[in-house]
Amino acid sequence: MRIGTVELANNLIMAPMAGITDQPFRRLAREGGAGLVCTEMISATALVRRDDKTLKIMSLAADEHPVSVQIFGSEPAIMAEAAQIAADGGADIVDINFGCPVRKIVKSGAGVKLIENEARMTAIMEAVVGRVTVPVTIKIRIGREADENVAPHIVKRAAASGIAQVTVHGRSAVNFHKGLPDLEAVAAAVRAAPMQVIGNGGIIDELTAKDFLDKTNCAGLMVGRGAIGDPALFRRISHYLSTGEMMQAPTREQRIDCLKKHARMAADHYGERRGVILLRKVMPYYLKGLPNASRIRNEFNQIETLLALDAVLEKIGESPYFINDAGDRGYYENE
Ligand SMILES: Cc1cc2nc3c(=O)[nH]c(=O)nc-3n(C[C@H](O)[C@H](O)[C@H](O)COP(=O)(O)O)c2cc1C
Repeated sequence: MRIGTVELANNLIMAPMAGITDQPFRRLAREGGAGLVCTEMISATALVRRDDKTLKIMSLAADEHPVSVQIFGSEPAIMAEAAQIAADGGADIVDINFGCPVRKIVKSGAGVKLIENEARMTAIMEAVVGRVTVPVTIKIRIGREADENVAPHIVKRAAASGIAQVTVHGRSAVNFHKGLPDLEAVAAAVRAAPMQVIGNGGIIDELTAKDFLDKTNCAGLMVGRGAIGDPALFRRISHYLSTGEMMQAPTREQRIDCLKKHARMAADHYGERRGVILLRKVMPYYLKGLPNASRIRNEFNQIETLLALDAVLEKIGESPYFINDAGDRGYYENE
């Protein structure tokens, strides 16, 4: 798939997720088969201020390209300046966040608030497209309220403003990330769009991916939470879409190995203590379905070193602390 001038190995994109899709995670997702990864949303104002923490969020590794940097804000000139900084920092694509429903963001006039302010939204898109030479994409929701679908209208507006691609998250802002996506609403956006539309929402495995594509006819898929703790999901989906065959899901050992690798990458990127502490956010996903996962999680929340992390992971498989999937789960605390 191509986005403007950028060629992707497939049509599967890792969703931007604040606090999750940091550099270690993006590198794992690329290794796991994502055709494109995306930074978490970055404040345009903070970027323009050259805030250190923000610049660190935007630091891109050589092995994660192609990568898209997502920015949010409400001022066209600041968004354009931030886009330029992102492109100078190595972004292959700049993505604009028009979908975030978080109160603080909406109150500042950014994120999903902009889908009801067409003039400002258009001004932002035109300012950013006019400023950078890399392709510019946007990510939207189908609306702010339930049963609303503004996506067919926005995709046309976006095309007229020079936007290369639109990702449509098939949920309204009121639903945050809950419930099933409205695939008919996404399909309506695909039918109306003069350019490629990427579908997002609720894709957790090969079958939900295929169903999303079949029902919407979108050009590609963006996967969020389904890939946390399972970055190789992209490879399995891609294999299934091209061959119709399912690859084996990762074993418990493979998941634990991936968690260890993730921890080491986080330690390299942030320093050991901070890296291990930040990993607490994604650990529950790696441990999902394991017997006693909540007890392991509690232990993880105390640890601050890689050595301590390995020691906790060593216990997995030991009886009676952990049992195999076919074991007598009733005796143990289960998730
Ligand atoms: C913890 C978390 C953080 C998120 N942060 C962002 C973000 O920074 N930018 C954005 O456009 N969407 C963000 N999203 C929304 C996701 O990109 C995606 O649209 C949503 O999770 C639906 O996809 P899924 O059902 O595959 O998870 C976030 C979602 C979650 C769960």
